[in-house]
Formats: sequence, structure tokens, C-alpha cells
Amino acid sequence: MTRGADDEIAETDEPAAPGITRRALLSGAGATGIVALGTAGVLAASRAGTGADATGSAVAAAGPHQAGIDRPALPQQHCLLVIADVDTGALRASLASLGARVAEVTSHPAGLADLTPDGPGDLTVTVGLGATALAATAHPELADLVTLPDFAGDAQLPATRRGGDLLVSVNASDPSVLEPVSSWLLEHVQGARIRWSEFGYRGAPVDGVARNPFGYLDGIIGPRTEQELRDDVWIADGPLAGGTVCVMRRFRLDVDGFRALAPADRDATIGRVQSTGAPLSGGARDDQVNLGAKAADGTLLIPPHAHARAAHPSFTGSPLMLRRSYSYRVDEADHGHVFISYQNDVQTFARTQLRLDEVDALMRFSTPTATAAFAILPGISGDADLGASLF
Ligand code: HEM
Repeated sequence: MTRGADDEIAETDEPAAPGITRRALLSGAGATGIVALGTAGVLAASRAGTGADATGSAVAAAGPHQAGIDRPALPQQHCLLVIADVDTGALRASLASLGARVAEVTSHPAGLADLTPDGPGDLTVTVGLGATALAATAHPELADLVTLPDFAGDAQLPATRRGGDLLVSVNASDPSVLEPVSSWLLEHVQGARIRWSEFGYRGAPVDGVARNPFGYLDGIIGPRTEQELRDDVWIADGPLAGGTVCVMRRFRLDVDGFRALAPADRDATIGRVQSTGAPLSGGARDDQVNLGAKAADGTLLIPPHAHARAAHPSFTGSPLMLRRSYSYRVDEADHGHVFISYQNDVQTFARTQLRLDEVDALMRFSTPTATAAFAILPGISGDADLGASLF
């Protein structure tokens, strides 16, 4: 399925970014390879052996890209996200040590007795550096790649909830391995001081897509094929070639407030039908929203302030972002969504979030409680230490 399946351009909403229309995107003139696969694509990718594995078998740490971004194709159901500050003077040694341990713990077939006694399963570890850590490498200019503007609500966040030197994302089907593995990894990072951490979970996938805390299927649209990932997700060259940029925003969600809406109003807030995930403009779950479609009375089928309209890349001229978000729950007052996206240009995210802050009805139910961006390091290889290209 391609974005070209629906050739309509939204003519009644705010204009797209200067000179960029959905049609330009479709024809390839405005951005690279805007094509998306839904379930069919994920499952086809799985069958084609591109690494999808929802059943818990090993996901290789080695490769041009770190595991945990496009492999496994369906995100594991649990994760422990750790955002820490580190001794940046010892960064090179810490990353080398971290990379060696990630390779060891994810690949040891029998498991490590104290950490993964039943084997590694589909455990992955993904490591990224924030702007402050990048500034301490031989390529301080790379800090610009992960610098975010302030979005609505960010100014109220404590400093500990903005940025951070190091991201270690530990993901697995088996939640019992997350804590021991992350503690063991961080023991080997010099001067590690945790800023915040979050245990995340995802709903059981329904044909490859999980529901978010509002009960809506989330993660339908995104880059999936090798070509799309190359165009939109992986950094092509320079010291971070093979890496990507991860944006992480923790949102406390007003689930009660959202659920108090009438079902039709909830669907209008998202732009899709809760039960099926299908766009309100018609079609099936994996279809694109048709931003120009109207009812007989002339009203837009994807309402002006629907999230799917607000986030649509035709308005920002952005490529697609790979969304792999998790739900979290601390207590009855603090639960929600850790939005996680991977893209090769932080502006893809930034332009979208700025637009959401202006027009998205969903943001009324979302309060940011942490924000950060990290350069995800190139993949682990047998020849070089993790992060060696930065020094
Ligand atoms: C606050 C919590 C959020 C929730 C609960 C949420 C939920 C959803 C849902 C249910 C969809 C429709 C299905 C799909 O395509 O996955 C969607 C689409 C999308 N969301 Fe979000 N989202 C949130 C925040 C964000 C943020 C912060 C961004 C980026 C700045 C974003 C970007 C997108 C994009 C790009 C799409 C696809 C639009 C399209 O092309 O149809 N979302 N989101």
C-alpha cells in the first residue's frame, strides 16, 4: 500500500509548509519515498526474513544499525527506558564497554546466569547520546542533530526531565530481564547518574499494531521497507552513518477525560475509528487518511483538529517518522504514553510537534512530562567499539 492510493490534497485546511503539497510528496518532489506499509507490510517483512519476531527469538545486536529500531519489526511488549548523565570524559571507554556487554547479553545462546537465565529471547538494547554528550566527542557539531526547540509545556519541566547524556533502551517480551540487564549495563558506564527511567508496555498486537492508553490502534502509518527506512530513518553519512535520531516525549494522558467524550467525538479527535483503526475518510485500517474527503454536507471527514490531520506530513513537508511508543503507569495520577520516534532529521519531529501544539485536539488530553532527543549510535560490529566513529 502506498500513500499514492489516495490522491486528494487537503484544500480546506491550513496551507502546507511553503511550496509543499501532499501531491508533491506523492510524486516524490517534496520529500523522499513517502510510502507506508501497515500490517500487511509488517507481516510480509517478517515472512521475508527482515527480522520481525514477536515470539521471542533472538534479535542480533550486530549489524549496520543497532537492534530495537526496525528489528524486531513489531516492538517487544515491554521496555525499560533509562535516561542518564555520565562522566563525559570517560565516554569513549564507557561506550566500548557498553557495546561489548550488549553484544554479550543479547547473543549468549544459553543466557547469562544472573541476567537472562532462560536465554536472551528477543532482548534488544539500543544506545543513544544526547546533545551534551555529543558535544564532548571529537564531533561536537553533532549536538545540533539532537537539539529540540521548546514545545508547549516544556518550559515548566524540571531540568532533569529535559535532555540527558545517555539513553539506554532495554526491550524484551519477558519483562523480568529488563531491570537486571539495565542495572548491569549501567554499572559499566562511568559516572552514570539516572535522570529518569520508565517501565513501558504495549498492548498485545492486533495483526501487528497495538493499542495505546486511549484504546486506539497506534503506529499504523510509518516507514517500513528498506528503501523507506534508508530515506527517512537511517543517517546516511558522517560519524553517525547507520544511526538515527530518537525523540522521546513522555506524555501524561488524561485518559478519563478522553473516555468521557462520546465515542464519535473520540474518533473525531483521532481521525480514525476506535474499533477498526480505519480512517474516518473511509477504507481499511492500513489505508491513509484522505484529508480532502467530505461528507454530503461539505464537512471534512477527517475533522480540522483531528490528530491524524494535524500530524500528517503533507503540512510540514516532512518524511515519515518510525513511531514505536510505549504506555506507562506510575499510579492513578500519572499514566500515559512515552512517544518514541526515529527519524534521520530531528526537524521531522520538531515541525510536527509544533503543528500539533497549534491545531491538534489530542494535545488537550496530553501533558508533556519529559522531553529528549538522542543520536542513536551506528550498529555494533565486530571490528570497532560502539561509538568509536565519534572519537
Ligand atoms: C500524545 C500522545 C499521542 C497519542 C495517544 C497518539 C496517537 C496516534 C494515533 C492513534 C494515530 C493514528 C494511527 C496511526 O497512524 O498510528 C496517530 C498517528 C500519528 N501520530 Fe500520534 N499520538 C500521540 C502523539 C504524537 C506526537 C507527539 C507526534 C509527533 C510529533 C505524533 C505523530 C503522529 C503521526 C506522524 C501520525 C500519522 C499521521 C498520518 O500520516 O496519518 N503523534 N497517533
